[in-house]
Amino acid sequence: RAKVLVDSHGRTLRDLRVSITDRCNFRCMYCLPETEAAQNFYRGRWANLPNANPIKWQWQPKSKLLTFEEIERVVRIAAELGIQKIRLTGGEPLLRKDVEQLVSLIAKVPGIEDLAMTTNGFLFPEKGKALRDAGLKRISFSLDSLDRANFQKMTGRDGLTEVLESIRFAQELGMNPVKVNAVIIRGINDHEIEALAAFARERDLSMRFIEFMPLDSAHAWKKEFVMPGREILERLQRSHQLQPIVSDNPAETARRWRFSDGRGELGLISPVSEPFCGHCNRLRLTADGKIRTCLFSVTEHDLRERLRSGASDDELNEYLQSVAWQKEDRHHIGEADFVAPERSMSCIGG
Ligand code: GTP
Ligand code: 5AD
Ligand code: SF4
Repeated sequence: RAKVLVDSHGRTLRDLRVSITDRCNFRCMYCLPETEAAQNFYRGRWANLPNANPIKWQWQPKSKLLTFEEIERVVRIAAELGIQKIRLTGGEPLLRKDVEQLVSLIAKVPGIEDLAMTTNGFLFPEKGKALRDAGLKRISFSLDSLDRANFQKMTGRDGLTEVLESIRFAQELGMNPVKVNAVIIRGINDHEIEALAAFARERDLSMRFIEFMPLDSAHAWKKEFVMPGREILERLQRSHQLQPIVSDNPAETARRWRFSDGRGELGLISPVSEPFCGHCNRLRLTADGKIRTCLFSVTEHDLRERLRSGASDDELNEYLQSVAWQKEDRHHIGEADFVAPERSMSCIGG
């Protein structure tokens, strides 16, 4: 059996991001914009939404979600093919019952050197200790605003206090680094950029500013919404003394900066204005068992069907290799031929 996953553009895939549920307890306006505030915002500005009904979606029935045993099997076969990093995502991964059991299964797979999770953090105070004890090493929280009302407007939930507590708790548990993701939407939270940076410095966090991508369930994304990373950086450099951090990992999504005079760091994740596809080493597994070779893939590859129809490990190994080979060279955001994926980030996994 071959040992690596390679694509037709010469990239070797090392990173598998696994969505374990499409459900979420938040309604972030860049992902599942369900609240009135979010919909009014989009409609008022661009009026390109179907103007009758609220945007609705359906969760996947549980029978379609991969079981922990199925996920572990995929991870094991992927690890035999050189996957070294696993990131658990959602939807909201902490909504999956007994998620720490899955963490414990994956942490034991030979070859998996790095196990991380991306979460909105709301349930982390309940789950954090069990997750750490099960082998979760790193965590990223979503935090788009430090202002209670704006947080609620952006996420649809009054959860700022809980998320701040989660960030503190993850640090207390010794998770390192604790990353914080802020998706910046022009006109909504860009006035908080400086405050978010100051928060990173004060709390010794890795704070990342992410460009809004066309992955929202409403398909309401417009380029005017995106604040380019360059503009964010200029603002940050006016308020803070920053030094670039040299990275030895070309597949990294963020350009990072440290404070000349303090702890913590800042990252700019600019997939829209400065795509980093050339070094992308990521593969995604959706909660319902589809492989996606790119965040913006328009086709998915049905692994679940194979898992449930008696495919052998060898057959799955070969299937993964043939799928990896088809990985897209890059996304086409902003180009005439761009088609947004039908499913939102909540189904694909951040
Ligand atoms: P690790 O290297 O595993 O720590 O991941 P990371 O630093 O990329 O962090 P994280 O998984 O939190 O990703 C941060 C954000 O970057 C995601 O929520 C996405 O918005 C964006 N992102 C991550 N991977 C990709 C990718 O492959 N393509 C694009 N366009 N955006 C991505
Ligand atoms: N654009 C950019 N990032 C997004 N995320 C979710 N939706 C989008 C989007 N439309 C990211 C957020 C969140 C993670 C799960 O995915 O950073 O923290
Ligand atoms: Fe990789 Fe696709 Fe993201 Fe580009 S858009 S970095 S190819 S997943």
